[in-house]
Amino acid sequence: MTKAKVAVLISGRGSNMAALLYAAKAADCPYEIVLVAANDSEAAGLTLAAAEGIATFAHSHKGLKRAEFDAIIDARLREAGAHYVALAGYMRLLSPEFVANWEGRMLNIHPSLLPKYKGLNTHAQAIAAGDSHAGCSVHIVTAELDDGPVLGQTPVAILPGDSEDSLAARILIAEHQLYSRTLADFVTRERSPDYLLAKVRERALALPQVDEVTSHGMPCFGILKGKKFAYVSHNHHGDGVVALLVKTTAAEEQAMLIESDPARYYRPAYFGDGWVGIRLDLGDTDWDQIAERLHAGWRQVAPRKLLGLMDIAEEF
Ligand code: GAR
Repeated sequence: MTKAKVAVLISGRGSNMAALLYAAKAADCPYEIVLVAANDSEAAGLTLAAAEGIATFAHSHKGLKRAEFDAIIDARLREAGAHYVALAGYMRLLSPEFVANWEGRMLNIHPSLLPKYKGLNTHAQAIAAGDSHAGCSVHIVTAELDDGPVLGQTPVAILPGDSEDSLAARILIAEHQLYSRTLADFVTRERSPDYLLAKVRERALALPQVDEVTSHGMPCFGILKGKKFAYVSHNHHGDGVVALLVKTTAAEEQAMLIESDPARYYRPAYFGDGWVGIRLDLGDTDWDQIAERLHAGWRQVAPRKLLGLMDIAEEF
């Protein structure tokens, strides 16, 4: 399976970035680092990343509006082919646009047991509160600071006499272990057949009068007691591929799609020209586009009456 492409954003030392980078050197690591970017050209982590042969990018945020700066970073991430973003000591608040662009695909590491101690000075706060444990969390980034769903945490005991620095140093060891493991799990889950089927199911069953049955050993979506418009194929004839087989709208469409992106689209065996196979396991699936394809496939098989109702509904 191809590795998930991850860009790492840093502002300084970059030790978490280094942990991600060295974990990625393992042959069985499911992700690779395609870019390390910083909002400060002096960020020490950039030198290390470059020395390790990773593409780097630095641009100062000074004098730019938040959204303007984020748009520059966003463009670079896309150019690098990143599909995920890992924030690693990236000390910038993000614009809503940037967060929305990477929704569900951007992780952050934070040195506290969230939801405790969001923001800065987390170690001092844990010591001052008399907590038995501090720790670190990896979470999905949402619009609220340090607030998205937590994917993993490691509690770290606070020792008698711990200073902010001694505690931070110990938590950092835990951070380095936690981040790469959590990121690896995250990108793996996103490529698992169950996860991909659930994503298709959510979109197919949102269409009117659709049900799911098993046909030819595959989960299959069609009009209730009617024709089928989509199948999810997994490891068909041992090909190891997870794909959506969906009805096309015109005879030439299959050939056109295959020509436009032969790594993604293919002619599904036994289905004929009226269908196209779309690989879902490449790690960069555009789910809005999949929803559109399902909708178009649905329209091919929906009874006239249902189509009429849909057209009226879509006018509103
Ligand atoms: C890490 O401790 C990280 O958890 C923290 O900054 C440090 C960066 O170190 N991040 C935050 O506080 C984000 N809210 P690093 O540059 O060596 O990875």
